[in-house]
Amino acid sequence: MKTLGIETSCDETAIAIYDSEDGIMGESTYSQMEMHAEYGGVVPELASRDHCLKIVNVLKDALGNNSIDDIDRIAYTSGPGLLGALLIGESFAQGLSTALDIPLLSINHLEGHLMSPMMEFPEIKMPFICLLVSGGHSMIVDVKEKGNYEIIGQSQDDAVGEAFDKVAKLLDLPYPGGPHIEKLALEGNPNAYDFPRPMIHSNNLDMSLSGLKTAVLYTVQKIKDLDQSKKADIAASFQKAVTDLLVVKIKKAVEETNRKDVIIAGGVAANKFIRNEFKKFEDSLDIKVYYPDLKYCGDNAAMIAFVGSMMITPKEPTIKSKVRARWPLNELKE
Ligand code: KG4
Ligand code: ZN
Repeated sequence: MKTLGIETSCDETAIAIYDSEDGIMGESTYSQMEMHAEYGGVVPELASRDHCLKIVNVLKDALGNNSIDDIDRIAYTSGPGLLGALLIGESFAQGLSTALDIPLLSINHLEGHLMSPMMEFPEIKMPFICLLVSGGHSMIVDVKEKGNYEIIGQSQDDAVGEAFDKVAKLLDLPYPGGPHIEKLALEGNPNAYDFPRPMIHSNNLDMSLSGLKTAVLYTVQKIKDLDQSKKADIAASFQKAVTDLLVVKIKKAVEETNRKDVIIAGGVAANKFIRNEFKKFEDSLDIKVYYPDLKYCGDNAAMIAFVGSMMITPKEPTIKSKVRARWPLNELKE
């Protein structure tokens, strides 16, 4: 069975085909990053317009030699995300499903991230713990079974990716800042600055990032000659503080739930320093840590097609709009 996945929740226009037997048959992602970089963040109206302009070519590119007539169902992201951007994907998906007379499935974007490593690592079995860290979300999810997700911890303020982006701005690095901080941190000393790790000792799995970001701001304001080497030290120390916080919370989550598989997903999961630090305690905790392939850490349609392929075929066609700007993982049932 071939599922066509469509993702337009933020600044990536992405389409992919997932075959239940052969895996990914085709995929294409157009990133609007360069356009938004000029504004230091995603501009929702520009994002919607660009999805409109690019989506047909992205479909053609994703199809390659596959025929659209061989597609069995359409799965699209209906939330959470930017409403205007989501509506473009939904309208396109509804059009295709009507024209081809095939089922249409609405998919939760976060569920796509949660499941993404299972595309490559079929040995991952639910239940597992997922640390979902992106520009908009930072949460620890107990994935009990398909559709049954408990958020057992989350950031009380900024998302981890957002903190990377804000600190990058303080260091005059381009948007999105995560990859730039990671690169600059390679030249720096992670112990140069002792930044706070807010809520690291709290007796729950929640965390806070805004205090850390503010501590970086005050440090930057105090330094008179913020040269490249000081910036590198700040980047490395910040990255270390975030990683320490995430590691402590995941260790605690594993202890509390006794899960054996840990998945790190979302844009921040691309960070190699974070990946290495998590790998270090695999043996001592007798767990296995999985990451999606780098190209599936950020927003992509393969994960949406993959989740779509796991869903039961809807009984009746629907043209009702399902888009939701806010759609928590523990509210999947309608
Ligand atoms: O999942 P994603 O592509 O989009 C959503 O937010 O849904 O995540 C983007 C976020 C941005 O904040 C970006 O700075 C961060 O992921 N990011 C990274 C890295 N690559 C992307 N953060 C730290 N290290 C990276 N290598
Ligand atoms: Zn995402």
